[in-house]
Amino acid sequence: MAAPAADPTLEPTPPSQQEKTLHMTVLASPDMANFSGRVHGGSLLKLLDQVAYACAARYCKSYCVTVSLDHVFFKEPIQVGELITVLAHVNYVGSSSLEIGVKVVAENLKTLAKRHTNSCYFTMVCMDEDGKPTQAPPLIIESEAERRLFKAAQMRRELRKEVMARNQALHEASGEPLPGTAVSGPTH
Ligand SMILES: CC(C)(COP(=O)(O)OP(=O)(O)OC[C@H]1O[C@@H](n2cnc3c(N)ncnc32)[C@H](O)[C@@H]1OP(=O)(O)O)[C@@H](O)C(=O)NCCC(=O)NCCS
Repeated sequence: MAAPAADPTLEPTPPSQQEKTLHMTVLASPDMANFSGRVHGGSLLKLLDQVAYACAARYCKSYCVTVSLDHVFFKEPIQVGELITVLAHVNYVGSSSLEIGVKVVAENLKTLAKRHTNSCYFTMVCMDEDGKPTQAPPLIIESEAERRLFKAAQMRRELRKEVMARNQALHEASGEPLPGTAVSGPTH
């Protein structure tokens, strides 16, 4: 009698060839609170930057810097006393830059209810020993989900470049810096 076919859903997931994902959990403590007693947006962003850095540096096995942060979405507030889990993933690798997608899940310790509270995208740059951008390890796409993340990140990279180029053109057309913007610089 032929052996029954293996159920692919019961097979262990093969280990990834690269360190692309990092999860970090912390307790939302009173020192993270704002005047309303909930977690301050700035405190959360600092935590997210640290996790994005750790995810990028672990993937690159090298020092990385944050060059930009976008699509920051504060979907729901986080209460002091909740458990904050930050999920970071390398979505895309260009030459020296990487997009790290970040999702935040808050958990109420009494009800165990979990909520997706925040998300954002960090662009990090892989740096060499001399503090110059250097080639990051090319991304190996290992699943359909990773392919979708990659394509979405590629689209955001194009959008970032276009927004920066159009912003730069506005600066140049007006002949003076737009209020609230940084000094003019190269477009990417
Ligand atoms: C990051 C930094 C080294 C980039 O310098 P640069 O002269 O722009 O370097 P490059 O032109 O080679 O760009 C490097 C990469 O960053 C990307 N990049 C640059 N500016 C960007 C921006 N505003 N948004 C998204 N990506 C950007 C480029 O597209 C390029 O990606 P690629 O190599 O995958 O194609 C420089 O801007 C820097 O030192 N910034 C300060 C970083 C910092 O202090 N962060 C806070 C503390 S960690």
